[in-house]
Amino acid sequence: MAAEKIFLIGMMGSGKSYWAKKIAKWNKCVGYDLDDIIEMNEEKTIPEIFSEDGEDAFRKTEAKIIRWFKEKKKFVIATGGGTPCFHDNMNWMKKEGVVIWLDESIEVLVSRLIANKTKRPLIANLSDDQISKFVQEKLVERNPIYQQAHYRLTSDEIKEANLKKLILKHVS
Ligand code: S3P
Repeated sequence: MAAEKIFLIGMMGSGKSYWAKKIAKWNKCVGYDLDDIIEMNEEKTIPEIFSEDGEDAFRKTEAKIIRWFKEKKKFVIATGGGTPCFHDNMNWMKKEGVVIWLDESIEVLVSRLIANKTKRPLIANLSDDQISKFVQEKLVERNPIYQQAHYRLTSDEIKEANLKKLILKHVS
């Protein structure tokens, strides 16, 4: 038996995609990555969507595609860092399933993003210092929304055992 619909949220670099793959294995469900689905559907990379169509268009597509998951039964999905913050997506996800916030520390986020920024249009052209400032500012803006998740795991708590424990609370 396994939890039905699991939405992983959190800033870019918080490990949503990594943990979605892990959870899919032991929860015996399909694992998705929202950015990958958007890219497949739009036949463009995320940076191309941002540069050719703009962020507003990306957010509309993101909101449309996340809602396709209404029809799906059992899955875990890594959402994009901004997903909960637009088009009432947070409330929608909370009604559909279990929303887990991976609240990684600023230090870890910044170091991961500095090492891996090219696929992320919001930071691709920023210097290391600018990335650090960007992350701090975005967290101030987004934390009030992320905080609405059903569950929050902070840096030290983002571990397989903890994720298992809280997902098992939702076995059907
Ligand atoms: C974004 C995060 C990205 C992607 C897009 C915008 C954001 O996803 O959706 O570049 O607004 O934080 P990841 O969190 O998977 O990097």
